[in-house]
Amino acid sequence: MEGPRAPEIHEWTRVVEFLNTHLRPGQGWSIADEYPTAITSSNRINSRVIFDGDQIISHAIVRPIIVKNPIGVFKVAGIGSVVTSDQYRKQGLSTQILESCLQAARDSNCDLAILWTDLFDFYRRIGFELAGSEVSFEIDRDLVSNTQLRFVEGPKVDPAAVLRLYAQHTVTSHRSIDDIRESLAIPNSRVTTAWDSMGRMVAYAVEGKGADLNGYIHEWGGTLPNLLALFTHMRTTQKRTLRLITPAHSLNLIAKLTELGLPVHRGHLGMMKLLKPDSFFSKIQRHARSLGIADLVLEKKDGKFYFGRGLHVYSTDSEADILRLLFGPTRPSELHAFDRTTAETFDRLLPVPMWIWGWDSV
Ligand SMILES: CC(C)(COP(=O)(O)OP(=O)(O)OC[C@H]1O[C@@H](n2cnc3c(N)ncnc32)[C@H](O)[C@@H]1OP(=O)(O)O)[C@@H](O)C(=O)NCCC(=O)NCCS
Repeated sequence: MEGPRAPEIHEWTRVVEFLNTHLRPGQGWSIADEYPTAITSSNRINSRVIFDGDQIISHAIVRPIIVKNPIGVFKVAGIGSVVTSDQYRKQGLSTQILESCLQAARDSNCDLAILWTDLFDFYRRIGFELAGSEVSFEIDRDLVSNTQLRFVEGPKVDPAAVLRLYAQHTVTSHRSIDDIRESLAIPNSRVTTAWDSMGRMVAYAVEGKGADLNGYIHEWGGTLPNLLALFTHMRTTQKRTLRLITPAHSLNLIAKLTELGLPVHRGHLGMMKLLKPDSFFSKIQRHARSLGIADLVLEKKDGKFYFGRGLHVYSTDSEADILRLLFGPTRPSELHAFDRTTAETFDRLLPVPMWIWGWDSV
């Protein structure tokens, strides 16, 4: 066996074929069309394969995502397309591939890694834990009526107009116009836009993404009244209950949908792992200083995490504990019995608003 290693350029087509065979059998499109910013030859160096002779038998890929939020800029390694051929399973190949992906992500200064799975125990063995927040609402009724908007279905919209609305979000990942153009073309996905009387695009929303997220609105942008009208239109035209996925920091949207009485589900953003704790902590420290908090303790020393304020310092050797403290979903004061000042400080600083929009999931 050979690897884990990045595939050579001439091997890329076979990597995509391997993924299509094992992850999308019988599908009418290529997985590369579903993940245009991840499964692409330009991201080949972040892919890892193991060969047996000239046959690919195991694969995973990292897509570095630059996330900007009010605290700073974070480099996040999105990991996906983890698969081993049936007859080679349970020999540790995916574990080796994932370790190689994590090392590559560390080498390129990713602060943390994230992935989406239901194999929780498999990923816990290599230090991932469920963390962060995702709130989803069932859009099972009309949210508004009497709108002046015009709605257009289909992906033929100006990516620059989408980018302008997207840029209004509190947490975004860096996207070029080309990234958006490619994402708009993802198969089995319904893009709907809302236009005002002046002919300006004022909201967009995307439901479905290839084999995933059927019935889920996972990308959206625009002001609250326009979005409510757009979601209502999508539900009416699709004649089914849709689920809207939102970050926990979308406070106005969440308050409005809660007031309307829509069924709500509170879950995790994904499975996460800290890759560069020192780098991550220094960004939180810098943010704390900008708020006048000079004595925040947040560090990793000799395999242990220390956190607190001033002389009140707490510790844990559990990465899972620290992930939940940093990303939630629970408020810090509900996680630990802190002294009052530390509890107030952490509740002000944490959880870090972290979000990966649907187009960026790997
Ligand atoms: C999930 C998947 C990627 C795991 O691949 P794999 O190469 O078998 O992974 P590993 O061998 O590293 O680990 C798998 C299990 O085998 C066990 N194992 C590892 N080496 C072993 C060995 N030498 N002997 C016996 N068991 C072993 C591991 O402990 C692990 O156990 P767990 O499932 O209880 O956690 C594979 O089953 C697969 O391709 N599934 C379909 C696609 C999929 O679901 N991908 C995940 C998307 S998130």
